[in-house]
Amino acid sequence: MTRVFSGIKPTGHLTLGNYLGAMRRWAETDQHQADALFCVVDLHALTVDHDPARVRRLSRQAATLLLASGLDPERCTVFVQSHVDEHARLSYLLECVAADGEMRRMIQYKEKARREEARGGSVRLSLLTYPALMAADILAYRTDEAPVGDDQTQHVELARDLAVRFNQRYGQTFTVPRATPPKVAARVMNLHDPASKMGKSDDTGPGVVYLLDEPDAVRRKIMRAVTDDGRDVVYDRRERPGVANLLEILAACAGGEPEDLSGGYASYGALKKDVAEAVVEALGPLRRRHRELCADPGYVDGVLRAGAEKARRMARPTVDAAYRAIGLLPPA
Ligand code: TYM
Repeated sequence: MTRVFSGIKPTGHLTLGNYLGAMRRWAETDQHQADALFCVVDLHALTVDHDPARVRRLSRQAATLLLASGLDPERCTVFVQSHVDEHARLSYLLECVAADGEMRRMIQYKEKARREEARGGSVRLSLLTYPALMAADILAYRTDEAPVGDDQTQHVELARDLAVRFNQRYGQTFTVPRATPPKVAARVMNLHDPASKMGKSDDTGPGVVYLLDEPDAVRRKIMRAVTDDGRDVVYDRRERPGVANLLEILAACAGGEPEDLSGGYASYGALKKDVAEAVVEALGPLRRRHRELCADPGYVDGVLRAGAEKARRMARPTVDAAYRAIGLLPPA
């Protein structure tokens, strides 16, 4: 059976981008067709300035939202990264296989480091080594597929390279994974700035639809989305990025292809109205279930406890094998 692993980082409130680019497929497809693990990757949240209490709060919220989105602990494994030591154990070995130069070439590192330095701040070393930890997340489970949005495919490619290199140098240990981005909405853009990704740690809140936004807030944000010059509704990512983004969101929420959907609209206003309703409808069940789960924190704790136990059992033999293969003396 195909092994699937994916993760979400608790650095902010989860967004429509996270949902359409990743989470929705995990619940609708992956958990039914694969042996799947989904992880709140809290160690990754420490790679940028953080408030400990907020990370704790967002980790629980992310886990609750994963369950609210339809992940069923009877069908898949849901857990928190820091509850399974194997991730950090393996990350160090992968740092010993990775080159400094390939880490520095990661687009996310370059962008975040540039932003941080422009603010006069410093960059945590863990931001540079982050892809080794992400590779460890994936490789520890002998993952075949990592369903991620567009922005994470470069990191999954690096995990592939590290798996191949490790296997060549030290003997066959890891499965070589591949990224599986969605066909539509692989990169949902910020509604106010269609040149930038809709990101959860964004400070431009009005352009970001959060999964827990009230329906009226969702409608307001979408109705105020920046559109492009011109009046006709055409799907052209390069020339009309604002409208293309709306068409992709509509296609992802209501079905159909963005190109075909564009033909049904004579104005931007009519398009925005349909997009707003489609998003409100898509998020409705998730919001309701989230409310129910918040009233039952013991259930969420139980799922995470059982998930971590299962994940530990799955990861341990592979990580132990990697320790032996690379030359570390096994404990007597
Ligand atoms: P994160 O937390 O930034 O995002 C979680 C998932 O959501 C996708 N995503 C988007 N997709 C489409 N449009 C957007 N605007 C958008 N924003 C986010 C991301 O591509 C991702 O799939 N490093 C990862 C987490 C991670 C991981 C892993 C993922 C750690 N270890 C192992 C897969 C496998 C991250 O920061 O995702």
